[in-house]
Amino acid sequence: MNEYNITLKKNKGNIKFFTDKSVQSLAWGNLVSYIDEFLYKNRNSYSFFYGEFSMRLHCFYNIQNKIKDQYKTFMDMLGGLGCTGKIFQVNQEQTYLNDLDKDCYELLINNFNPDNITNKDSSSYDFKDEYDLVLSDFNNLTIARTESDYKTFLDGMFNNAKKFVVITECSIFHLKYGRKSYENYERLMGVVMDEHTKKGFFRALKKYYQKLYPEWHLVHIEYFHASAYLLFAKKNAKLTINLNDRNDMIAEPPVSISENQLSLYD
Ligand SMILES: C[S@@+](CC[C@H](N)C(=O)[O-])C[C@H]1O[C@@H](n2cnc3c(N)ncnc32)[C@H](O)[C@@H]1O
Repeated sequence: MNEYNITLKKNKGNIKFFTDKSVQSLAWGNLVSYIDEFLYKNRNSYSFFYGEFSMRLHCFYNIQNKIKDQYKTFMDMLGGLGCTGKIFQVNQEQTYLNDLDKDCYELLINNFNPDNITNKDSSSYDFKDEYDLVLSDFNNLTIARTESDYKTFLDGMFNNAKKFVVITECSIFHLKYGRKSYENYERLMGVVMDEHTKKGFFRALKKYYQKLYPEWHLVHIEYFHASAYLLFAKKNAKLTINLNDRNDMIAEPPVSISENQLSLYD
C-alpha cells in the first residue's frame, strides 16, 4: 500500500490518498482511473511532472489569482485528484466537486466536504443550484467537439454559472500542423481569423463562443504549447492572453508530491 501526499503551493492545502494498485503495469487502451494514469505518468516521466502537469496547475493558479475576490460558490465538474478543487476553493462549505470515476469520487470525499461531492456523469448533470464559478478541466476538448460530444456538457456549465466559467481547451495542440489546421478551425467555427497565429486563433475563439453563448465573454487565456485555459465572464472585457514558460516550473513547481510505501504492519 502506498500513501501519496500532494501539496499545493501558496497555502492551497494538501491532498492525501492511499492506493495499492500496481500502476507500473498500466494497461494502455483500457479504461483506467485518472488516478492510475496520473501515478503512472508521474513515476515514469520527469518531463510530465515539470512539464505538462505543473504547467496546467500554474495556468489555473494564474486564472484564480485574477478572480480571487469575485466568487465564493464554486463547482468543479471534473474533480479528478482535486488539485483544481484546492486551487479555486474559497471555503469548504461552498466548494462542490463531481467525478464519474469511483476512485476519484472516494479521494474527493476524503479531501473535501463529503456532503458536496457527487459521482455523476457531468454531461447530463442535474444542477440543483447555480454557482458563481463552474470549472471543467477537460482532457480533450477541441473546437471539433464543442458543438457535438461536449454540447450538453458545456450548455450545463454556461447555464448554471452566475459569474465565471473556466475550461481547458486543447485545439492549440493541433495548430502545430500549420495552415491547414488554421483553415480547418476557421471552417468549424465559422469565423475568419485576423492572422494565422495562436493569438489570431484565440481572438477568433472569443467570437465563436460569443455566438454560442451570447451572454458570456471570453476575457482571459492562459496557455502553453499543449493546452489553453479559458476564463469566461458575464461582464465583457478586452481579451488578455498569457503564454507560460516551462522554465518557471523548474524554478518553482506549483505542486509537490510525496510517496511513502506503507508496510503491511503499519
Ligand atoms: C483531467 S482530469 C481532471 C483533473 C482535475 N482538474 C484535478 O485537479 O485533478 C478529468 C477528470 O474527469 C473525469 N471525467 C471524465 N468524464 C467524465 C464525465 N462524463 N463526468 C464526470 N467526470 C468525468 C475523469 O474521471 C477525470 O478524473
